Amino acid sequence: MTLIEKIQQTRDFLQDKGMTAPEFGLILGSGLGELAEEVENAIVLNYADIPNWGRSTVVGHAGKLVYGDLAGRKILALQGRFHFYEGNPLEVVTFPVRVMKALGCQGVLVTNAAGGIGFGPGTLMAISDHINLTGQNPLIGANLDDFGPRFPDMSNAYSKDYRKAAHQAADKLGIRLDEGVYIGVSGPSYETPAEIRAFKTMGADAVGMSTVPEVIVAAHSGLKVLGISAITNHAAGFQAELNHEEVVAVTQRIKADFKQLVKAVLAEL
Ligand code: HPA
Repeated sequence: MTLIEKIQQTRDFLQDKGMTAPEFGLILGSGLGELAEEVENAIVLNYADIPNWGRSTVVGHAGKLVYGDLAGRKILALQGRFHFYEGNPLEVVTFPVRVMKALGCQGVLVTNAAGGIGFGPGTLMAISDHINLTGQNPLIGANLDDFGPRFPDMSNAYSKDYRKAAHQAADKLGIRLDEGVYIGVSGPSYETPAEIRAFKTMGADAVGMSTVPEVIVAAHSGLKVLGISAITNHAAGFQAELNHEEVVAVTQRIKADFKQLVKAVLAEL
């Protein structure tokens, strides 16, 4: 089956299950998937039951697709995303974004846990732009002409309008929302202190192992993107050592703000 045929098959399957006409896709990163539990009139599918869908293996990533109402909007949420470092081809990592587009979404909210380069643990950061340092690109291979051009523009990959709405929502709620550049790496090893010093010089404010492939595919097909990083730790060299447990613990701490913010933004968009 070609990629287009797979996208169409999965779209038809999800529509048959009642997942029709979502307005927004939500990609919920490490520990942030709880938001999907607040979806009303929910239709929930396990990833394992969806044709052509990947499998999620990371602790803190549930592996469910949730459709329904959140903050008055029809959303389709990925509770658990696919990472390149798990061994997933980027076609699998970004497949849900293709399907979101095929189902008619106008935009995607992409969230992640990230290491702060300057920003400290507990910061919520709206992503203004990214640096792709994964050494990969999900659009390599035959271009899907029905979705977008061979050489897509990335100048406005992160929608200014969506970011403005995010800042307005944050202000209303009294939640602090910073803004900065996300540098995407493949992982799974954390960065070395020398790499982080280099990334700082390159203009990065946060570093993480996801998001970049999904956003490239979203931009390709004209989906508007809001990216929010939850900064869970100081990047390597700025704190004694890094571990996944800390990332999970800090995420726990900030997820109440995060959930409120995403709901308020959805209502504003
Ligand atoms: N580096 C890369 N990815 C991350 C980090 C980090 O420091 N923290 C959470 N995800």
